[in-house]
Amino acid sequence: MQIGKLKIDTPVLLAPMSGISDYPFRMLCKNYGAGIVYSEFVSAHGIIRENAKTLSMIRFSEAERPIGIQIFGDSPEVMAEAARFIKQKFRPDIIDINYGCPVPKVTKRGAGSAALRDLNLMDEISSAVVEAVPKIPVTVKMRAGWEKSRIIIPEAGVRLEQCGIKAITLHPRTVKQSYGGSADWDLIRELKMAVEIPVIGNGDIKSAADMQIMLDQTQCDGVMIGRAALGNPFIFRELEAVFEGQPAPPPPTVLEQANLCQKHLQMQIEYRGETVGSNMMRKHFGWYLKNFPGAATYRNRLVMAENHNQMFAILEEVISYANQL
Ligand SMILES: Cc1cc2nc3c(=O)[nH]c(=O)nc-3n(C[C@H](O)[C@H](O)[C@H](O)COP(=O)(O)O)c2cc1C
Repeated sequence: MQIGKLKIDTPVLLAPMSGISDYPFRMLCKNYGAGIVYSEFVSAHGIIRENAKTLSMIRFSEAERPIGIQIFGDSPEVMAEAARFIKQKFRPDIIDINYGCPVPKVTKRGAGSAALRDLNLMDEISSAVVEAVPKIPVTVKMRAGWEKSRIIIPEAGVRLEQCGIKAITLHPRTVKQSYGGSADWDLIRELKMAVEIPVIGNGDIKSAADMQIMLDQTQCDGVMIGRAALGNPFIFRELEAVFEGQPAPPPPTVLEQANLCQKHLQMQIEYRGETVGSNMMRKHFGWYLKNFPGAATYRNRLVMAENHNQMFAILEEVISYANQL
């Protein structure tokens, strides 16, 4: 897959996920084969105000390349200024525009998926960002429409391509649907047939078999994985192998999962310090430690642990238990 001038060997991408897609998680997914990683969505207003917390969400390491930084906002001018700022300060490989976030706090202000109700605004934001950073490919991640009666695929795709957008990731649910029901992969196919730029299919891929079905059904150029990577960066080695026509490696053992969980904790602490890093890990424990006898007890103890030392001690117990399986 080629996005602008950027060539991607394995178009199996890690999705932007707010509160999840930080440096440690992105690195783990990259190490297991993710072809592009994305930051979580970042407010364009926060960027141009140079808000320290916002800018900390953009910072990345060279080892993460190719990386996309995702921005959201309601105004073409602010989005363009934010893109220029990111280009100058961070030089990511891709700038991605979020037209998919369904969270009311974001859409009420006209940002995220609000643009799905106003294709003229979508054109204006997209063109402004493309013009602001002519040397960086600008991509879009979007939902299929605001509600079932207002599906905007494929029309929006054709318009985005005309604005100079270099690839589109489609999560084919509506905003109203949130995460209910299932993603309508036929819409990915409709989009693929309507545009020349790469189309990345997203939504409900949980395994290499799912990926294969999506690729066959939609002819999309790449796939993006969100929830299935939680506690399971290993999924990228499976998807990468199958994408390249090789047999899928066996699923991770409990020992591998426990070791990776410990490594993730270590990376969080190095990245954010002992207190914040270990607190950030609490939600991940439940995703890593499951599907083995006694997992629930370990999970509960980890979530209740008072500090990182206790967490490491419990994880050592899990590892020695897993060694005996
Ligand atoms: C916790 C969480 C946070 C998310 N944050 C973002 C985000 O910041 N930007 C975005 O475009 N999508 C975000 N998404 C949506 C995902 O990128 C993806 O489109 C969606 O989960 C569907 O893919 P999946 O079925 O592989 O999970 C988020 C999803 C989850 C579960």
